[in-house]
Amino acid sequence: MTNRAFPAWAGDAEALPPRPFRASMAAVSPEGIIGVDQAIPWNYPADVRRLWRLTRGATVIFGRLTWETLPRRPLRRRRNMVVSRGPVPGAESFRSVGAAVAASAGETVWFLGGTGIYEEAMDYADFLDITHIPDRVAPGPGQRAAYFPRIAPARWRAGPLIPDPDEPGVTRRRYLRRKESP
Ligand SMILES: NC(=O)c1ccc[n+]([C@@H]2O[C@H](COP(=O)([O-])OP(=O)(O)OC[C@H]3O[C@@H](n4cnc5c(N)ncnc54)[C@H](OP(=O)(O)O)[C@@H]3O)[C@@H](O)[C@H]2O)c1
Repeated sequence: MTNRAFPAWAGDAEALPPRPFRASMAAVSPEGIIGVDQAIPWNYPADVRRLWRLTRGATVIFGRLTWETLPRRPLRRRRNMVVSRGPVPGAESFRSVGAAVAASAGETVWFLGGTGIYEEAMDYADFLDITHIPDRVAPGPGQRAAYFPRIAPARWRAGPLIPDPDEPGVTRRRYLRRKESP
């Protein structure tokens, strides 16, 4: 299959499909790690700025632990939703990703982690926006790593690899839901 099978936006890390859409966005180490001990074990400020640009005006959905790690919350200029089995003070909270999706019908939605959110969002996302971070991550004894879930090829079509023009070694890829996806 050639890249011609993909819409142009899939190969441009600054471009998005027409709204509304639902998508997951994550930065992932070579080991598939997204975080260690409630922190992100790398520092790519330009990637964070990109997240701010691309999610502006949209609804953003977090798991409770990710929500608690945000230095400033809620994220301004977007509707913030938190998924938790309990109430979350200061947040619009839902007991499942499905319930948050139902409450945001017709809106553009970004699923912003962690693991359980990305996992459940596999049923709702139109595409996955994955940033590949080159840093190798080796959690120490007693540390807890969070991982991005498996991207099943039967459900997701891997778009072209997009090198970051400014950050050496950083690449991105969009995964588009297969129309015949199970
Ligand atoms: N690299 C990245 O792009 C990225 C993105 C986001 C987060 N992170 C990192 O990932 C780590 C946090 O992720 P995490 O996976 O440990 O935690 P998380 O998903 O942020 O939060 C877990 C909590 O969220 C609730 N939850 C999650 N999925 C649920 C579901 N499907 N249904 C109902 N409730 C659900 C539960 O809350 P209750 O316990 O309240 O019921 C659960 O204990 C941190 O290290 C963070 O920095 C990295």
